[in-house]
Amino acid sequence: MEACSEADRFLMNAAAKERLEILRTVEEFGAWRKENVGTLSLGFVPTMGGLHEGHLALVRRSLLENDLTVVSVFLNRTQFDSPADLEAYPADFEEDVAALAKLGVEAIFAPDYDAMYPDDYHYKVGESQSSAELEGEHRPGHFDGVLTVVLKLLNVVQATRAYFGEKDWQQLQLVKGMVEAFFLSTEIVACPTVRDEAGLALSSRNRRLSAQGIKIARRLNQILNTATSAEGAKRELQEAGFEVEYVADREGRRLAAVRLEGVRLIDNVQIR
Ligand code: PAF
Repeated sequence: MEACSEADRFLMNAAAKERLEILRTVEEFGAWRKENVGTLSLGFVPTMGGLHEGHLALVRRSLLENDLTVVSVFLNRTQFDSPADLEAYPADFEEDVAALAKLGVEAIFAPDYDAMYPDDYHYKVGESQSSAELEGEHRPGHFDGVLTVVLKLLNVVQATRAYFGEKDWQQLQLVKGMVEAFFLSTEIVACPTVRDEAGLALSSRNRRLSAQGIKIARRLNQILNTATSAEGAKRELQEAGFEVEYVADREGRRLAAVRLEGVRLIDNVQIR
């Protein structure tokens, strides 16, 4: 296809912005892409829905850096090791669509399980080293589900750039590794964790905490930042009322997963 002039790009961009398309199948997405993308840059934000400010920050960054932005909303059950956890995941598709329309994204890719897994998950992608520890150790099969769905999504969307939050640090490293290992052409853009005024990392799961729970949860980030060792952080977190799954220092970062009021929270900070 011929390269567009700046004016063409502007007009195509403005026209595309007039409507938000909701695409339910890989074929529908392909047709939308063929009609709208051409030589424009395409930003992609993968989500499981239950959108909060953390997701919206990724979307804003994509809108700034690309001509067009697509967001996927797909609650990927293959990455949940616990049915109760999947069941409790907050989902309000209409609310998500309203938030994305307000920001001005061009398309939402919202397939169902059969559309994403015509093979019923008989084929999967795995990583055999770092995915076995930390999150991988505590959530068996989690990263197989994440990497498989991210590979499928990147192949379908064929984005210029895809945006991932640093809150899921281990996920981010594994996605970057997979993109490199399989020569995928999408650039992975890492975005800083969005936190509330007291430092609590925004997460869909925070909605399940009581007001008292939120107060305690805010200590997670503080303790990770101030403790002088992972062991010390673990002790302080237990004293604060968390059930600690792990605290570990890896390559200059301190990563942790804890449970509070039955809600699993993760966070990570740069070690000072
Ligand atoms: O980080 C998430 O929300 C999910 O793991 C992702 C990347 C959308 C894959 O389902």
